[in-house]
Amino acid sequence: MAGVTDHCFRRLCRMEGCDLTFTEMVSAKGMHYGSRKTRSLIRTANEERPCAVQLFGSEPDIMAEITSVICDEYADEICLIDINCGCPAPKITSNGEGSALMRDIPGAARVIEATVRASRLPVSVKFRKGWDANSINAVEFARMCEQSGASMVTVHGRTRESMYTGSADWDIIAQVVDAVSIPVIGNGDIFSAEAALSMRERTGCAGIMVARGAQGDPFIFREIRCALDEVPYSPPTDVERMDMAIRHARSFIEEKEPSLLPELRKHMAWYSHGMHGSTEFRCLVNSARNADEMLNVLYNFRDSLTSA
Ligand SMILES: Cc1cc2nc3c(=O)[nH]c(=O)nc-3n(C[C@H](O)[C@H](O)[C@H](O)COP(=O)(O)O)c2cc1C
Repeated sequence: MAGVTDHCFRRLCRMEGCDLTFTEMVSAKGMHYGSRKTRSLIRTANEERPCAVQLFGSEPDIMAEITSVICDEYADEICLIDINCGCPAPKITSNGEGSALMRDIPGAARVIEATVRASRLPVSVKFRKGWDANSINAVEFARMCEQSGASMVTVHGRTRESMYTGSADWDIIAQVVDAVSIPVIGNGDIFSAEAALSMRERTGCAGIMVARGAQGDPFIFREIRCALDEVPYSPPTDVERMDMAIRHARSFIEEKEPSLLPELRKHMAWYSHGMHGSTEFRCLVNSARNADEMLNVLYNFRDSLTSA
């Protein structure tokens, strides 16, 4: 998730049992034009692997060029190249990228084929149910991905039109599972272990992708792992959640530029969700002017939970 799944967060998710992490989406064009900020998104550490790089782009030549660069320079760090055909943001789709590729199946096929040809790593594709309610084409799109050489697909059961609203349609995921012989990862509305089990049962998907359900809750991976393995799970206490938040904040502060500190606020708000005093905590987090003040707020809140 762009702006969320940076290397600090991915590491915590892996630690809690996530099997495969993905970078935030990386612009192939941004890499092509030498953007340092774009390239920094590919940075991974041992603790967060296996990790896939997710690329977005609509120009086959540029996708191929950047895929070769990644395979040459990051082969020891990255296990998979994932192509984003699901992003609904207008600034992406207006360039024919992200979910706009679902409206241009021949164009998407050229992007996937070029990426597969240039890659020494397996290539997967993530896409949606379709562009809008009048153009549901996930099954056709999945078949094209398979024919174009993709080794795996991930289906988010919403259209581009519905963005992130309404419920994800898991039936479309089941239809894609029936239509192709490559592994299909199901995505949409996994906020609990029960949801993960029920998606697996209803769709027969080979894997489950957790997105917003992990925000402020990397523990969800352990919860799901325990449910899949049929072993008991004891959820973290609020203090343990805040310990995780502090761990997250400390690595963010140590490893990222001070100017990015405001990005941390939303994570801290997510961790505190539903806790006693969280409204006041969020105000304090938002007014922290530097890393020391932020850490102070976090430790004080954690201590208030122990004494509550
Ligand atoms: C803030 C945010 C950023 C996202 N960024 C990406 C991204 O970079 N690449 C991607 O494939 N999906 C991205 N997504 C979509 C999620 O991966 C996922 O498909 C979607 O949220 C549905 O899953 P959920 O209902 O479990 O959240 C993003 C979603 C959100 C909310």
